[in-house]
Amino acid sequence: MFKVSVESVGDFYQHYPKVAAIITVNAGGKKNAMAAAWHSAVSFEPPLYGVSIAPKRFTYQLIAQSKAFGVNFVPFEVVELVASVGGSDGKEVDKFGKFGIAEEQPLKTSVPILRDAYTAYECELLDSRTYGDHVWVVGEIVAVHFAQDVLTAKGTLDLDKLKPALYLGGELYATADSRSVRFLDRRTYGRR
Ligand SMILES: Cc1cc2nc3c(=O)[nH]c(=O)nc-3n(C[C@H](O)[C@H](O)[C@H](O)COP(=O)(O)O)c2cc1C
Repeated sequence: MFKVSVESVGDFYQHYPKVAAIITVNAGGKKNAMAAAWHSAVSFEPPLYGVSIAPKRFTYQLIAQSKAFGVNFVPFEVVELVASVGGSDGKEVDKFGKFGIAEEQPLKTSVPILRDAYTAYECELLDSRTYGDHVWVVGEIVAVHFAQDVLTAKGTLDLDKLKPALYLGGELYATADSRSVRFLDRRTYGRR
């Protein structure tokens, strides 16, 4: 493998793919959704989830007002929705109306839960901190919505039943193939 070493970082897409998420919000009836690739679980106990959001996003402004957000994961078969909500400005359009986004009832907050999502987390804002041109927004997961029939007995995604939406950067999307799955027990491999 031939590597180049440079100081110019650019968009640093090299570490992708990322699972594409749709962040939802509802501030006093004003609903919005945006695509996010920069997100992560942060803690088991309490269950915390973080998303890096540029403060200029309308979604960020609505989260700052409402103190809650939703993290939705949609299957590859509807990945166009990621590009739609990630390519439009909620200040200018009602994305739920324009893209015909169907919703389900949230449990603990008022954040929109996408009907197409195979998993959605309702998060109550815990903290937000600015890093560079983004804000790391952390919420406590107060409710989880998930499709049980696409999970294995272990609770992991069954790739024969559900293809996740992965973002490669540069407007490219892909998914994961069940033929690539390997079981590697960390206790065995950690001792090897
Ligand atoms: C696949 C994809 C991933 C994105 N990831 C992020 C992200 O992690 N953080 C962010 O601030 N913007 C991200 N964006 C950009 C926002 O989704 C986009 O600017 C959107 O139009 C914001 O909508 P809003 O202004 O209505 O909130 C992403 C866009 C796409 C298409």
